[in-house]
Amino acid sequence: MWKLAVFLLAFAADIQIQAYRHGAPAYIKKFWLEDAPHEGTSPFLVRGHGYKVFRNVKDYGAKGDGITDDTDAFNAAINDGGRCSGGACGTGTTGQPALIYVPSGKYVVSSPIQLYVDTQVIGDAINLPTIKAASRFSPNNESIIAGFDPGTGSTTNFYIGVRNLVIDSGAVPANASVSLLNWAVSQATNLINVNFVMPVGSQHSGIIMDGGSGGGGSATYLGDLTFSGGLIGIHLNNQQYAFKNCKFTNVATGIAVQHLFVGTFQGMHFEGCGIGVDVGGIDDTGSVALIDSTADNVGTVVNGSANLVLENLHVTNSGPVLRINGTNKVTGSLDEKTYVVGHLYYDNKDDLVASKGTYVPYTKRGALTDGDGLYLQKPQPQYTEYSADAFVSVKDHGAKGDGQTDDTVAINALLKANANCKITYFPHGVYLVTDTIYVPPGSRIVGEVWSTISATGSKFADESNPHVMFQVGKPGEVGTAEVTDMLFTVADVLPGAIMVQINMAGKNKGDVSFHNSHFRSGGAADSNTETECQTDGKPCKAAFMMFHIAPTAQIYIENTWLWTADHDLDGDYNQVIGTGRGMYIESTKGVWLVGTASEHHVLYAYQLYNAQNVFVSMQQVETPYNQPIPQAPTPWTPNPAWHDPDFSDCDRDSTGARCHMQWALRIIGEETKTINIYGSGFWVFFNNYTQDCGSTFCQENIVDLENLKKGDGVELYNLNTRGTQNLITLDGNGQAAPFQAAVSADNPGSWGAIIAAYLGFE
Ligand SMILES: *[C@@H]1O[C@H](CO)[C@@H](O)[C@H](O)[C@H]1NC(C)=O
Ligand SMILES: *[C@@H]1O[C@H](CO)[C@@H](O)[C@H](O)[C@H]1NC(C)=O
Ligand SMILES: *[C@@H]1O[C@H](CO)[C@@H](O)[C@H](O)[C@H]1NC(C)=O
Ligand SMILES: *[C@@H]1O[C@H](CO)[C@@H](O)[C@H](O)[C@H]1NC(C)=O
Ligand SMILES: *[C@@H]1O[C@H](CO)[C@@H](O)[C@H](O)[C@H]1NC(C)=O
Repeated sequence: MWKLAVFLLAFAADIQIQAYRHGAPAYIKKFWLEDAPHEGTSPFLVRGHGYKVFRNVKDYGAKGDGITDDTDAFNAAINDGGRCSGGACGTGTTGQPALIYVPSGKYVVSSPIQLYVDTQVIGDAINLPTIKAASRFSPNNESIIAGFDPGTGSTTNFYIGVRNLVIDSGAVPANASVSLLNWAVSQATNLINVNFVMPVGSQHSGIIMDGGSGGGGSATYLGDLTFSGGLIGIHLNNQQYAFKNCKFTNVATGIAVQHLFVGTFQGMHFEGCGIGVDVGGIDDTGSVALIDSTADNVGTVVNGSANLVLENLHVTNSGPVLRINGTNKVTGSLDEKTYVVGHLYYDNKDDLVASKGTYVPYTKRGALTDGDGLYLQKPQPQYTEYSADAFVSVKDHGAKGDGQTDDTVAINALLKANANCKITYFPHGVYLVTDTIYVPPGSRIVGEVWSTISATGSKFADESNPHVMFQVGKPGEVGTAEVTDMLFTVADVLPGAIMVQINMAGKNKGDVSFHNSHFRSGGAADSNTETECQTDGKPCKAAFMMFHIAPTAQIYIENTWLWTADHDLDGDYNQVIGTGRGMYIESTKGVWLVGTASEHHVLYAYQLYNAQNVFVSMQQVETPYNQPIPQAPTPWTPNPAWHDPDFSDCDRDSTGARCHMQWALRIIGEETKTINIYGSGFWVFFNNYTQDCGSTFCQENIVDLENLKKGDGVELYNLNTRGTQNLITLDGNGQAAPFQAAVSADNPGSWGAIIAAYLGFE
């Protein structure tokens, strides 16, 4: 249907392409990555000798001269070392990391560049290279870059990245339905700083998500992108997503939603588009939040029917802001206003208001804005202002990253030496540590295709005295700490391991940040948990907690996946892994969670205790597939010092077993203030590994709000659940009288149940 929108484009203006980047000073000519020490290794690759992680496409014959056909050179760089689709050919999917580096230049391709899991394509961030489709690029409906690896389903297309490119379809006939990138991918993928250039008025699409019969994927984040020309900027087909800072210029439809349960779009900018966001299109859309965005010269900003949250939209020279079923619902600009379509709860009784569109009070933003009233945004640091000699490799200072050597002392010494000075580079590898890695203020840490820090040894064994593996600052410390492209895991069953703890706050908001850094417990050849935790009904206590954001912390987190493995990425071992806790937030100074996921932990995915000033742009959760066998909290003993849920009031009646399951979200504590959550996707697929839970639901409860009161500023928008009986439980743990404030039966939709706004503690 949105093809009609092409004709709205009578005013095709000049196309302005703006790369999102920090300005590099003129004396920096070349991106540091090109000259950085290329020392990455893959220690758990069976035939690992001579395997190259870093591959410069020019070393594989690419010319980048705008004439030569470089397709084969790109695919040779990707395939080198016996890599193949889906991690087949004995590599597993974590054992074949490849960084495909693209120097500045114009690379002509005549057929798709095919990526695999564990591949990152990274261009020169100072002078973005262009991938240009040849006029003969064919056939129709193929993508210039095929980011989806067909060797595994879209929902297991993990660990893939595309960064710092211009993709240009200008030479392809305007009537060909070509797309620039197929991005049917899932968690732990990274798509940033890419400009999609298409002829105005053409049938081209920037991003499609076509994973065949397996659907479009289960992703968390993409951002800092531009789109110009074309029929569609992003053709969205995915379970959930957070988008941040994307600009659409003279695109017929900026974002066309085919299928989506929950999406939060922050900082979208539409100029000269027929439609900004079309949710009325092809298939079912659960919910969309569009916040802090602008539209100029746009036919319709948001079209179609779904649960909607529109907040702080600055609209000029445009048609309606919201058009549903052909009727204009909102026509003026929505500056500092919040408008909601769907089911709302205003109080803490169970009486809902089904609204076809209404204003609610503008969300109180507390300390979460950046001076201009907008929620803070921070692009992934890429250090274009530095040349390679500003980077120091841990492998040049005694660390081995070979998955065997204890690298604790070497890493700690280098971080101390580099603080407020050099940038610490971790070439790909698995860095074993037996004690805490302390990250002092003034640290910048960069990995390569997810370099891994992995705990081992007795210090992490005691669950009654948990020990931190990677500690960002001591309590009360203030300064800078940036972490990008890293992965955190445990090499063994370690009931006392807290993988990462943040204590540091920034001098300025955003000075402490994590981007594209992920967590894994089990599921890979680099950990003994892969073979030791196989017994059904007996999940092993692989780690105490993944991510602790402690009281004095302030942190911006973008694109992070906290994954307790539900299956083996590298082999066929049964994975029965029982990580205690996902993310625990006690901070009051500002926490920004932009596109995060937390899956399969025993007690909870996210717990906020006396937290203040927390912003969430889409959070996704899955309950452990084995639960309630055993019943949570088993195998863990709840620890009151950590405010663990004890599930003590689950045995009220015969349905009790379905209550002994992970909380997706707990917000507890009387000091709680200003918790703004835009988009939750809390999915329960199984009960005791059985998919069909029938009308009884797989799980009883999912969200617990305790000790809160009206005026605390806790605002939950677009809460989506699957397989749960209740949506919001008040005082759901160990208190006299849990109260079901919102139940699924009253709120059907999306992947199971949905409410557009819970404002009971607003
Ligand atoms: C290309 O896509 C269009 C629109 O989705 C479809 O109608 C057409 O059959 C596709 N063509 C090929 C060759 O797959
Ligand atoms: C595109 O247009 C050309 C020229 O009019 C025509 O030959 C070709 O068949 C068209 N292709 C498609 C896919 O419609
Ligand atoms: C807009 O949304 C409506 C549903 O509200 C849908 O019928 C229509 O196809 C959508 N797109 C356009 C271009 O009208
Ligand atoms: C739009 O139309 C659909 C399909 O008829 C209907 O389910 C939905 O309630 C309508 N939305 C509004 C806000 O009128
Ligand atoms: C859990 O599933 C297993 C395998 O299907 C079955 O043998 C067992 O009885 C189930 N346990 C319960 C309590 O339903």
